[in-house]
Amino acid sequence: MIEQFNRDGTLRHLITLANLNRTQLNALLDHAETYLVGHAHYAPREPRLLGRTVALLFFEPSTRTRVSFHLAATRLSADVVTLDGDASSRVKGETLLDTVRTLEAMHTDVFVVRTAEAGIPALLAGHIGRGKALINAGEAHCEHPTQGLLDVLTIRQHKPDIRNLCVAIVGDIRHSRVARSAAQALGILDVGELRLVGPEPLLPDTNEFDGAVRYAELEPGLRDADVIMALRIQRERMRKEAGIPSNDAYFKRFGLTAERLKAARGDVIVMHPGPINREVEISSAVADGPHSVIGRQVTNGVAVRMAVLARIAEGLSGTP
Ligand code: NCD
Repeated sequence: MIEQFNRDGTLRHLITLANLNRTQLNALLDHAETYLVGHAHYAPREPRLLGRTVALLFFEPSTRTRVSFHLAATRLSADVVTLDGDASSRVKGETLLDTVRTLEAMHTDVFVVRTAEAGIPALLAGHIGRGKALINAGEAHCEHPTQGLLDVLTIRQHKPDIRNLCVAIVGDIRHSRVARSAAQALGILDVGELRLVGPEPLLPDTNEFDGAVRYAELEPGLRDADVIMALRIQRERMRKEAGIPSNDAYFKRFGLTAERLKAARGDVIVMHPGPINREVEISSAVADGPHSVIGRQVTNGVAVRMAVLARIAEGLSGTP
């Protein structure tokens, strides 16, 4: 596994949350909180990344993650370049490593990478020069560490006593990097109970998600939950869709409706990483309703990414 911290304890890369301890994770969340002031603004711009270049390499579609990394880097005064999978030389046969080397020759300091293939962020991190950093912005079905951070930050803001919470992740957990990173972060914070709720073909293998309880029916899975995290069905990651319900059939059995929410605790919060498929995994009444904290997750995303970039800035080499 790639070393994510420098010898002096500063953050070098963020590839996974798996090997962070509670102190390191809480420090990132605390730092993110400092960028959230009032309801309408982030903290004033900081010069931490002045003269630095952050490259956003997105080889899979993204709205929230990409824009929030862009805003976060800009708010820390970095120059930002964005490379979309299809618009880059990769379509001409350049390997991803050559693309990264090209950007390195232009003195890129931080690479933010999203890929459909597992293992790529760690591989690239192993090849980039000393004093340069890489952040995983979503890796296949495996990891999405900044999403995991923003999810636990959102939970902590609403329900700080994480050790006594029951969190139900509902939907396509099998193909979800969001679920895996959230489970890692919740595990580090010692969550009271983690439930995985969905039809059998969308639940992960039983050797994954240590300690979580599986539910193949919605209502018992939601009963007395404090937090519900709904997920999109990721058909693009499925080799075959055999056994996967149609959207209509899925909504009938697993769609989060106001009626079904009544099984959960009265003050339950409803989360979703986006993009939302309305009336498939969640009804509009719930997505836009009083229990929803989906907008708050998006707001927190910028703050969390600012915190990660700010921490990484401490370990970058040389004066820019
Ligand atoms: C998710 C992702 O890309 O993993 N979205 C996100 O980053 N906010 C979830 C999804 O695509 O369903």
